[in-house]
Amino acid sequence: MVELATSEQALRSAVGQAKRRGQRVGLVPTMGALHAGHLSLIEAAREQCPFVVVSIFVNPTQFGPHEDFDRYPRQLEDDCRQLESLANLVFAPTADVMYPPGFSTSVDPPCVATRWEGECRPGHFRGVATVVLKLFSLVAPHIAYFGEKDYQQLQVIRHMVTDLNLPVEIVGCPLIRDPDGIAMSSRNRQLDEDQRRRARSLSQALFAAQRAVDSGERNVAKVVQRMTEIMQAAPVERIDYVAVVDPETLEPCEEIDRPLQALVAAHVGTTRLIDNLRIHPPV
Ligand code: PAF
Repeated sequence: MVELATSEQALRSAVGQAKRRGQRVGLVPTMGALHAGHLSLIEAAREQCPFVVVSIFVNPTQFGPHEDFDRYPRQLEDDCRQLESLANLVFAPTADVMYPPGFSTSVDPPCVATRWEGECRPGHFRGVATVVLKLFSLVAPHIAYFGEKDYQQLQVIRHMVTDLNLPVEIVGCPLIRDPDGIAMSSRNRQLDEDQRRRARSLSQALFAAQRAVDSGERNVAKVVQRMTEIMQAAPVERIDYVAVVDPETLEPCEEIDRPLQALVAAHVGTTRLIDNLRIHPPV
């Protein structure tokens, strides 16, 4: 089994030893229920860092009161087995290690957190930024790896690191899709067969956006309309947003005159899914 640390002391001691050996430390923060998307982050970390820490913590502060915290998949033993020859250390703290009694400090997330997920999930990015800052402070990694699947989260973390002068390099890794186009996510295992079929409409909408742009469409409103129709036809239970935005600021755009980021979020059954794709106008 891979070495498992559940306390701050055990974590600091293992990472301290690696640093004394002169090893570069890479951190892959996760909430567990690992899939090939996570494994690609760990692979990226292994290429650059001789000592790789994977954190597994289902962070309660980033879930809203009516969200899926209770049914979020948890499978620590399985995850540790998968990490056997991939990671050097798994940090799986309990909630009271991360949030001991009396804990009351949090990070006010940057402006890029305001729209989209920020609007649909009030408090979500405050929870993410706070736990990620705590993980950076506990592990003190040289490099941390995040998936582009959570595109807005990656931008929030990049801004936080810049704004707070945190001594960590952030590496964003490409989103990984299943063969049917669905973006890999731990939440996909909540979908039954019919829901999974309907969930494909998120990536289908994104690919249709690129096809529309390839055929000469430049108007964001028209592209968003086409994407929305595809998801409604699936049907999904509820669309939270469909947007084509500036890749850095995440502000909405009107014309596709440069590479932009298309973002979608929708509920399929009782599962909320997000996906995104960089849309390129032909050169
Ligand atoms: O992306 C995730 O899995 C989580 O939001 C993160 C970054 C591990 C923070 O809890």
